[in-house]
Amino acid sequence: MRSKIAGIGHYLPERVVTNQELEKLMDTTDEWITERTGIKERRFGERQKETTTTMGAQAAARAIEDAGITKEDIDFIIFATLSPDYFFPGCGVLVQREMEISGTEIGALDIRNQCSGFVYGLSVADQFVRSGTYQNVLLIGAEMHSMGLDFTTRGRNVSVIFGDGAGAVVLQPTEDDDQGILTSHLHSDGRHAEELAFISPGCHGGYHGDPEKYGFHDNPYETIFITQKMLDDAMVFPYMNGKHVFKFAVRKFPEVIMEALQTTGLQTTDIDLLIPHQANLRISQFVQKVLKLRDDQVYNNIQKYGNTTAASIPIALSEARDLGRVNKGDLICLAAFGSGFTWGASLLKW
Ligand code: ACO
Repeated sequence: MRSKIAGIGHYLPERVVTNQELEKLMDTTDEWITERTGIKERRFGERQKETTTTMGAQAAARAIEDAGITKEDIDFIIFATLSPDYFFPGCGVLVQREMEISGTEIGALDIRNQCSGFVYGLSVADQFVRSGTYQNVLLIGAEMHSMGLDFTTRGRNVSVIFGDGAGAVVLQPTEDDDQGILTSHLHSDGRHAEELAFISPGCHGGYHGDPEKYGFHDNPYETIFITQKMLDDAMVFPYMNGKHVFKFAVRKFPEVIMEALQTTGLQTTDIDLLIPHQANLRISQFVQKVLKLRDDQVYNNIQKYGNTTAASIPIALSEARDLGRVNKGDLICLAAFGSGFTWGASLLKW
């Protein structure tokens, strides 16, 4: 028995934020952003009305409808995000409450694997379905990055990249030999943990890494979870060593895609559509070139939505399906790389 994606949906907030709009907030240009990332615009959720959870619930409702089931049929929830509504509890239980399915008391699991969150979540969901434990697993990837970015010139290398949105799938068992998830491959290398990270506030107490490099040299950072000084010094935003991330991403994406193909005895020419995590258009283009894939074999939409981290793959897959780019029997490859570093790939027959 395999698991298949029985339903899919995505949700994007209405507000479009162009590069020109960011030019008014910080010292940046449309040209710089386009040249380095390919991004032209992104969506930002409406503060106090939308959250990672509410966007996740919207995408989930569409996936559930698409699967032709009701929310009461869901027997397990997996929620992947790096921008949760609360530090704890996670968005899994919040989405259960938001969707009014708490009464069924189903389990809810939160996945913290950042850009790889959806691929990790898909593999976990796949295990539950293939083992016969659950019949309808709801997997959501959602992000409300706009609430946690530094929109001053100080934070420009990170803040121009990210956008908000959500995607969701329902996984069900299938006995169809020509359908479903064929293989998943997950990897990590924690030696790079602080190269792309949201370090403070946290419980690290200055334990990890180079205190000078990560700004924990001052005693208050080392001993207290959050301090006024930490806020004043803007230590509460994500940090990214862009060049380091780029270097590893362009190596690990092709490696893990080839690993998935070799496991199944398939080749790059067999891929109907590669949906890479939408990290940066330049990374996707590099991966396409290394794997010698044609343009019609790769789907990118980062130009419109920015990098939506755990949501980027399900948004892109859902959009590609809606546009007729994903059809029954197609070999789809999902691949991700991100903070951790963590990376992974899944091959599935639609
Ligand atoms: N606008 C204008 N100038 C900027 C901006 C900006 N938004 N951001 C940085 N700069 C400036 C820097 O200050 C620097 O100026 P300086 O030379 O005067 O010091 C100059 O541009 C170059 O900065 P770098 O950080 O060295 O820029 P780089 O060429 O490395 O490009 C980028 C940055 C686009 C982030 C690149 O490193 C990259 O693509 N990295 C991959 C990381 C990535 O895509 N992450 C996505 C999220 S992680 C993930 O999803 C896997």
